[in-house]
Amino acid sequence: MAINKKSMLSLILILISSLLPFPISAPPKGCSFDAIYQLGDSISDTGNLIREAPIGSSSAFARLPYGEAYFKKPTGRCSNGLIMVDFIASALHLPLLNPYLEGDANFTHGVNFAVAGSTALDTSFLAKNKIIVPLTNSSLSVQLGWFKHHLKSICYTQTECAHKLGRALFLVGEIGGNDYIYAFFQGKSIGEIHSYVPHIVQKIKDAARKVIDHGAKTVIVPGHFPIGCLPIYLTAFRSNDPAAYDELKCLKGLNNLAMFHNNHLQRALKQLRKVYPDVTIVYADYYTALQWVLSHAPSLGFEDKSLQKVCCGIGGDYNFDLTKECGSPEVPVCPDPETRISWDGFHLTEKAYKYMADFLMHSIMPEIQCAI
Ligand SMILES: *[C@@H]1O[C@H](CO)[C@@H](O)[C@H](O)[C@H]1NC(C)=O
Ligand SMILES: *[C@@H]1O[C@H](CO)[C@@H](O)[C@H](O)[C@H]1NC(C)=O
Repeated sequence: MAINKKSMLSLILILISSLLPFPISAPPKGCSFDAIYQLGDSISDTGNLIREAPIGSSSAFARLPYGEAYFKKPTGRCSNGLIMVDFIASALHLPLLNPYLEGDANFTHGVNFAVAGSTALDTSFLAKNKIIVPLTNSSLSVQLGWFKHHLKSICYTQTECAHKLGRALFLVGEIGGNDYIYAFFQGKSIGEIHSYVPHIVQKIKDAARKVIDHGAKTVIVPGHFPIGCLPIYLTAFRSNDPAAYDELKCLKGLNNLAMFHNNHLQRALKQLRKVYPDVTIVYADYYTALQWVLSHAPSLGFEDKSLQKVCCGIGGDYNFDLTKECGSPEVPVCPDPETRISWDGFHLTEKAYKYMADFLMHSIMPEIQCAI
């Protein structure tokens, strides 16, 4: 091969410097979103779950150290600071999105309907399959109900709503990650879980179709993380067989499930684009984004030796124990969260989310006619 180590390194550095610092150039014509509407789970919740009684309001996300890095207080974001949708909002020169359940919040520039712990499938459907949803019943369909309700407060006729929504950016997901977590941790087999994939993808596709039918013209639909790289899965499905791991030390079988989901989702989006040729439907590749962060960890400032170790956690190979959650008094926080990728075993640190968002926006912004 002609590429030696040194030229590889400079290639990586060029790539990084072309992504960073975060671009501040003015968006060109065409990129004039005046609102963002977000549906999803804890990857994008900015404060809904902690406003749900009785479980959400006493959840760990309502306590420090969640939010300690940026906000200095918990906001309901499942990280130490900002999350991806915050970076996307900033890139579009919009304020941070308020959560729908903050009743008196300002929704001039959009609403965040995402709820931590929520599922793509209805909780009644999951209950029929003997899967209990512990945190919230505010699944994707419930969030769509909230969206419809909210519409009544911002527009009066279908045409007026369509006109308004045409200038907004819609983020449908990530969602479905919890459906898989609950199934795995309630003892379902990988075969059975694979059989849920078409149902979950159908729900996401239906949600995208619904917002488009209301007038959305730009819809971003994220895929799944490489879940085999998350400490919650790495801990629960730890293996003594080296062949179970890939080159990034992630569990292959779980990553295969995520890829299977993502392939299904991308096929579904292709079909949607045919039905709605005048709508911009963009797939956000969270899978590759996190792999990129993991594979460039040292040059991005992450500590290589403890790459998969959780910052806010305790115990085991990954500093993670499902029974000792971040936010409990006995669970310590690492002194240097900006050198860690995983915040609490499920969710990432602000720093990791920032790099993921940078990576994603590099491909998404041109597709939605925005400058980077
Ligand atoms: C809501 O925010 C917008 C823009 O950020 C501002 O123009 C408007 O005055 C605010 N509304 C209220 C009621 O504070
Ligand atoms: C969800 O709904 C079921 C059925 O109505 C109920 O038993 C359960 O307590 C609810 N869960 C939460 C977290 O609200």
